[in-house]
Amino acid sequence: MAELSVKHLLGIKYLNEKDIQLIFDTADHFKEVINRSIKKVPSLRDITIANIFFENSTRTKLSFELAEKRLSADVINFSAGQSSVKKGETLIDTVNNILSMKVDMVVMRHPNPGSGIFLAKHVNASIVNAGDGAHEHPTQALLDSYSIREKLGDVAGKKVVIVGDILHSRVALSNIFALKLQGAKVKVCGPKTLLPKYIESLGVEVETDLRKALNWCDVANMLRIQNERLDISYFPTTREYTQQFGVNKTLLNSLDKEIVIMHPGPINRGVEITSDVADSKQSIILNQVENGVAIRMAVIYLLASKIK
Ligand code: CP
Repeated sequence: MAELSVKHLLGIKYLNEKDIQLIFDTADHFKEVINRSIKKVPSLRDITIANIFFENSTRTKLSFELAEKRLSADVINFSAGQSSVKKGETLIDTVNNILSMKVDMVVMRHPNPGSGIFLAKHVNASIVNAGDGAHEHPTQALLDSYSIREKLGDVAGKKVVIVGDILHSRVALSNIFALKLQGAKVKVCGPKTLLPKYIESLGVEVETDLRKALNWCDVANMLRIQNERLDISYFPTTREYTQQFGVNKTLLNSLDKEIVIMHPGPINRGVEITSDVADSKQSIILNQVENGVAIRMAVIYLLASKIK
């Protein structure tokens, strides 16, 4: 049986092209499963997974939990806000206590970049990064590429622009790694203050004119401003940001061609994207969420096969 080259999913940076293909092929199978009347398979009846979230989440948390349950794994959920972390317990102590209850896999979201990598070095379990600060969000990038493949037939050769707060976005970094690995052409677009200085060294081009970027691309992935990570003001006002970097229906309709609109969520309607664009036929935002379950089933299934 084909297997992943890694035993943790810490970032797209650690995957190769074959890993991504294997995840997509496995997700194709699980997508078919979750569209049946009986949406569950017994594959992981002997696996226990802890979802530990130190940061808020709607899509990722629910999607992982559903993916694990669809695979018949036992699932426990941990939210830092209601835990003994509030009494001063460390991350390693917290996770080791959870693991002593015979847990095999940990899915973790944490505000600190590299927290998953740190954990993988110190505890004996398979670790899945569900977003670590402004670093990586690998399953989001996988489901994004999978959704592009589903919509446009392939990722190779497609032109993708990632728009918005690139500096603080784990979604941007993981998407850049994933898209480049699959042979897509990538541009980033946003205020210069929200574009990291090293960005071109990742093999992406910079475009600060949104109209030009949209006219160039096949797909626009619109990101929200990560207000929770802004320590200073990076642009004068939200209104001015929206005028320069928000996509609305008038702009979309004035382009040379019909492009695909993506967004990882949560959306700030009226800031980076208007409702008539988010809810338009060109938007695949809810397809991304749907595909997230199949992708996470694939990731968990493939990692679990390395535990046994
Ligand atoms: N896309 C994403 O990570 O959304 P949540 O923060 O709701 O999980």
